[in-house]
Amino acid sequence: MSETLETPRETVSATAEALVKPLTIPVEAYLSEEYARAERDQLWAKVWQQVGRVEELPEVGSFLTYDILDDSIIVMRTAPDRLRAYYNVCSHRGRRLVDTPPGARDARGRGRQFVCGFHGWRYDIEGQCTHVPEREDWQGSLADEKIRLKDVKVDTWGGWIWINMDPDCEPLRDYLEPAATLLDAFQLERFRYRWRRWLVFDCNWKVALEAFNETYHVPYTHPEFIPFGSFLGWSRIQGRHSNIGFEAPKGLEENQGKLRIGGGVDARVSTAEMQNFIWENANTNTTETLVDVANRLVDELPEGTPPDQVAKYWLETARREDAERGVVWPTVEPEIVAKSGTAWQIFPNFQIGHGQNNMLCYNARPYGYDPDKCIFEVAVYQLFPQGEEPETEWLYTPQDDPNWRTVLPQDFSNMAAVQQGMKARGFTGPKPNPYRERATVNLHHNLAKYMGTGAPRELD
Ligand code: FES
Ligand SMILES: [Fe+2]
Repeated sequence: MSETLETPRETVSATAEALVKPLTIPVEAYLSEEYARAERDQLWAKVWQQVGRVEELPEVGSFLTYDILDDSIIVMRTAPDRLRAYYNVCSHRGRRLVDTPPGARDARGRGRQFVCGFHGWRYDIEGQCTHVPEREDWQGSLADEKIRLKDVKVDTWGGWIWINMDPDCEPLRDYLEPAATLLDAFQLERFRYRWRRWLVFDCNWKVALEAFNETYHVPYTHPEFIPFGSFLGWSRIQGRHSNIGFEAPKGLEENQGKLRIGGGVDARVSTAEMQNFIWENANTNTTETLVDVANRLVDELPEGTPPDQVAKYWLETARREDAERGVVWPTVEPEIVAKSGTAWQIFPNFQIGHGQNNMLCYNARPYGYDPDKCIFEVAVYQLFPQGEEPETEWLYTPQDDPNWRTVLPQDFSNMAAVQQGMKARGFTGPKPNPYRERATVNLHHNLAKYMGTGAPRELD
């Protein structure tokens, strides 16, 4: 298997080379409560975090909240082309300004002002405090600047809203490179939610993400995929981020991307079988158009059509039929498809499983300071004809809920079992595959830079 660290050039470094060696990761990052508490100031206060989609704030006054440990942040549209973010706390006595409704993931709404429920202080959408009952009692000492809502950095990329609590942070675009440049061609800002669900897992947030940042587990956690072909995959270090993809069969380089054909004897049949399986059992990674066209391959292509021709026909037909109903796929050069793979692990806690007409993303964050718990979110996105985007919201969906169908629960079944297993006296530490699970090693390599502890070390 050839070395694939060449993408892109500037990320090749001695560090990247070092991370291809067999390494082990100390378990404290997953298990230690002290480490979980230290993440608050050393990690979460310093990184860019994805908090929602731009289209969720359509009008001036639209807002959403995002909670990370003790901090809650309000993101507000203050002008048609401007977002601002503030700490969600009243400057009077510290009451949270906007409450999250019981059982909801966050608070959403639209308005011209916030009124604190405790003593009625008011703030406008620019964060300015506009009314303090009996303000004269403070004898002129409540300067406007002192009592306005405190700003948080906010920016957008890929159609997502990102925040950073560090006033001196690097610009979002720089932070996201080289992911931003390699993913720009996919025009992710045009995608819209098809469905989105969240839940709480009994594992650390890193355990949850690491169930999805490699392809090594596919034949064992998801044995139903074995008949559909080989799922050998790679993992590359991309600065503080990583990406993963599938090895392409010779002559099928584009098959490294998300839209793969089935690997059976008759590619027409196996592609249809794989598409139907994924549609019914995961409801991710494909669309109705792709499934429909796959189901017609046997009628529309002669027996014995070689796999590369099946792939070409399938994707070209789906692209054309989507375009006819106003769903225009981005045109992405095969070289970019191959380089960008199937998913990016954006440091520290967001995975983008991009595609040319659909996308699957995961997000994980701590649930309080309990290292054994996390909040996990799954969102499936797609290109829709303008005006036909479905209305969706975050649905709390426990692990055993049938709405998860069958494939994702196979991944979920490893979460608490890994968290528990790592505590066993007999466990000597995680030993990620140096080729296929490099994203995990790179995550901990970068976490250690923020945390000052937990760096991967040589496995001997
Ligand atoms: S805490 Fe908000 S008005 Fe008193
Ligand atoms: Fe999986």
